Amino acid sequence: MTAPLPIVVLVSGGGSNLQAIIDAIDRGELPARIQAVISNRPEVFALERAARAGIPTEVLDHTAYGTREDYDQALMAAIDRHHPALVVLAGFMRILTPEFVHHYHGRLLNIHPSLLPRHRGLDTHRRALEAGDSEHGATVHFVTAELDGGPRIIQARVPVHPDDTPESLAARVLEKEHRIYPLAIRWFAEGRLRQEHDQALLDGRPLDEPVRFDP
Ligand code: GAR
Repeated sequence: MTAPLPIVVLVSGGGSNLQAIIDAIDRGELPARIQAVISNRPEVFALERAARAGIPTEVLDHTAYGTREDYDQALMAAIDRHHPALVVLAGFMRILTPEFVHHYHGRLLNIHPSLLPRHRGLDTHRRALEAGDSEHGATVHFVTAELDGGPRIIQARVPVHPDDTPESLAARVLEKEHRIYPLAIRWFAEGRLRQEHDQALLDGRPLDEPVRFDP
C-alpha cells in the first residue's frame, strides 16, 4: 500500500463533485486524503459537506482582495500550507492568474461541464441546447494558462433530449462528473497519469484524445 495522495480541493458552490471525491475515498476506491477544502465564497454548501466529513475548511473571500494577483498569491499560500501533491478544482468559479497556473503546473486538475473543446467558459448547458448539440458531457483536464484549454484526460458523454432544459441537462452531466473526476484523481494518485509540457500521459502514453468514459 502506498501512502494516500495529499490533495487540496477548491470550491465555490454546492460541492457535489467534492462529495463524490469524499465518497470514493470512503469506499476505498481512491487512495487520496483531502488535506483541506478552500472556498472563495463564504457559506456555500461545499463547506458543510467538508465539515461533515471532518475535513478542515477555509474561506478566502475574493471580494476582500484588490486584484486578481493579490488574491491568487494569498490562495497559493493557503494551499501550500497543506503541501498537496495535487490541487483539485471542483466547481471553483475563478479565472486563475498565469502565476497560479505555473506554480501548480502538472498538479492542477479541473472538471468542466462540456465536451471540450466545445463550450469553454460559462453557461455550457444552455449553450449546448442553443447550438442544437445531440451530445453533451463533461471533461477532466489539466489546467494551463488557456481557459478550459489544458490537456484533456477523460470525457463522459450524455445524450441531449428534445425536451431538455439547461437544468435537466446539467443534472444528467453532473452524474457523469461524479464518476469521471474520482477516476482521474485515482489515476494520478496511482502514478499512472501525469502532465508533460502540454500533454497528458496515461500509463506513459500521450492522450491525443481524452479517454472516453464508457461504463
Ligand atoms: C460542475 O458542473 C462543474 O463541472 C462546474 O461547476 C459545477 C460545480 O458543481 N465547473 C465549472 O463550470 C468550471 N468552469 P458542484 O459544486 O456541485 O461540484
